Amino acid sequence: MKLADEAETRALGAKVARLLQPGDVITLQGPLGAGKTSFARGLIEALGHEGEVPSPSFAIVQPYDHLDLPVWHVDLYRLEDPSELEELGLDATEDSVLLVEWPEMAGRWDHALQLEIAIDEALGARRLTAHVPPGWKTRWPPR
Ligand SMILES: Nc1ncnc2c1ncn2[C@@H]1O[C@H](COP(=O)(O)OP(=O)(O)OP(=O)(O)O)[C@@H](O)[C@H]1O
Ligand SMILES: [Mg+2]
Repeated sequence: MKLADEAETRALGAKVARLLQPGDVITLQGPLGAGKTSFARGLIEALGHEGEVPSPSFAIVQPYDHLDLPVWHVDLYRLEDPSELEELGLDATEDSVLLVEWPEMAGRWDHALQLEIAIDEALGARRLTAHVPPGWKTRWPPR
């Protein structure tokens, strides 16, 4: 799927927001500046969050507990050791949605909808590919 600019990436996040169910995990892969946080912004704003959606690269976890469908936005880029994951409490998310940038730092979430954004230098655009698990087969691609 082609994402021509940041607005399209955010719009895709907003479409995916409408399909979410509690307990869903979405992982976002791709290089620095690919658009992972842009996608998360579109999604979190579409769920009703007003205000900023900062990149969680320093905080690692940014919770949005006030939403009807709570979201945990996570960025594992600065995770130093997978053992730190235990302290983050990411397992207690059956009632929430988990959005994870840099999931490769942890190496789990096999049941997640796995989205990967590549930068197409020639086009100046992004290309998104999805690994769709059984739980998402009827929901992907979003319309
Ligand atoms: N098609 C596109 N989709 C998303 N962002 C784009 C696109 N084209 C250009 N951009 C720009 O690329 C940048 C993407 O930044 P963003 O913080 O979303 O990346 P990221 O993947 O979260 O990076 P990081 O790994 O550092 O967290 C923004 O400055 C945005 O304006
Ligand atoms: Mg980011």
